[in-house]
Amino acid sequence: MTSVSVIAGPMHRGVKPINCQERIAYPKRDLILRSYEDKTQRSKTLFARAKKVLPAGVSYSIRDVIPYPFYVTCARGAKLTDVDGNVYTDYWMGHGVLLLGHSPKRVMDAVAEQIMKGTHFGFSHELELELADRIVDLIPSAEMVRFTSSGTEANMYASRLARAHTGRMKMAKVEGGWHGGYDSLHKAVHAPFDIPESAGLDPKALEDTLVVPFNDLDSARSALKGEDVACFIVEPVIGAGGFITPEPGYLEGLREICDETGTLLVFDEVITCFRLSPGGAQVFYGDEADITVIGKIMGGGFPIGAFCGRMEIFERLDHRRYPKMQERAFHGGTFTGNPVSMVAGITTLDIIRDGGVHRHIDALGDKMRRGLEDIIDRSRLSASVTGVCSAFAIHFQKEKPRNAREVERNDTETSKAYFSHLLSHNFALVKPALIHCFTGEPHTKEDIEEYLAATEEFFSSYQG
Ligand SMILES: Cc1ncc(COP(=O)(O)O)c(C=O)c1O
Repeated sequence: MTSVSVIAGPMHRGVKPINCQERIAYPKRDLILRSYEDKTQRSKTLFARAKKVLPAGVSYSIRDVIPYPFYVTCARGAKLTDVDGNVYTDYWMGHGVLLLGHSPKRVMDAVAEQIMKGTHFGFSHELELELADRIVDLIPSAEMVRFTSSGTEANMYASRLARAHTGRMKMAKVEGGWHGGYDSLHKAVHAPFDIPESAGLDPKALEDTLVVPFNDLDSARSALKGEDVACFIVEPVIGAGGFITPEPGYLEGLREICDETGTLLVFDEVITCFRLSPGGAQVFYGDEADITVIGKIMGGGFPIGAFCGRMEIFERLDHRRYPKMQERAFHGGTFTGNPVSMVAGITTLDIIRDGGVHRHIDALGDKMRRGLEDIIDRSRLSASVTGVCSAFAIHFQKEKPRNAREVERNDTETSKAYFSHLLSHNFALVKPALIHCFTGEPHTKEDIEEYLAATEEFFSSYQG
């Protein structure tokens, strides 16, 4: 075992640094976890309670932290404070929702005003038009919009609409693509891609979903050649699967194949829309979808989802035009068009539409990716960096993955050790085996430098 010197840097602001000036040796994960426990005793108590009423003690497995989660009491800008008073720099930013950071003042003020007028009307109101107008304005392929309460629901209704419009029942998706928990799309998210992603999934709901690798036009062409596939659903940049970007010509090629085969091209832009640009991936890459699924950022921190696209397709949702229920595609939901989510979304889109926020967060993203690559170049650890604009991921493998299959080369043990190291330095991220992060408006150059300093410390000292 090799001894290394671990120096506490400026990143330890406001928290008790671990291993400061101490000669320590890897593996030091136990030491790191002990130091985490020392400073999170209240969280530990809450976790003991949580396990009795919430399976695994959490509301979503992705939020689990080993040995137990820290419990957040307050969030402002890019910082989270936990029940023990520890302050974390957040690179998860509410599952990628918080482009403007936690509790941005303009959004909070608009929401506070709305709450006094009503939180949930259950009838039509002008705010839903206002948000729909902005979406149509920003996303080039959007002519009509319907709202949902989550990205999962939006994908479910979008695929139903694609089936209704084309009269075809099959769908195609890519390996590693995550579209939420809707049965028909909850397939081939994790390697080996051919076993069920969950207990309780109905195999009949999955059998019409075809799966192809990302960045592979030949496979897409052969999946769609029977001209019996309603839609090809793809994230323009693979998100949870490791922020993998499309190779030049890939999205354009999909567009062509879909046009040739009468298949609708659906972009799941739940992560990329309003992140890669105010108009999302379609403005950033210049390729247009028939149906676009959105969510996250456009709710301004409140629950939301939506699907939008060409009028000719969306008219299929119109019960006046299609009074027979077997001819129209149903969509609805109690909280659909919720006024609080609408106001938060309107305010957010008004703030970001001129591109100023994007210039800032993209510059931070560039600085982060360049800094990480530089550290990796100087290290004997094999790693690579993916991502674009304000999203970055670190893979402990030499070659940058070009699809989810290649992500499987990631050395997850090293990734988990890196995650624990960053947690001990009070960086809040997910997920230990595949770290993927977002920069947001409140992050500063100094935040990035602190993250890079902690990373440098890990890369120069980790011995496996
Ligand atoms: C690309 C993509 N689609 C769909 C979803 C599901 O959205 P939600 O969690 O709001 O249901 C997510 C969630 O992370 C996502 O990243």
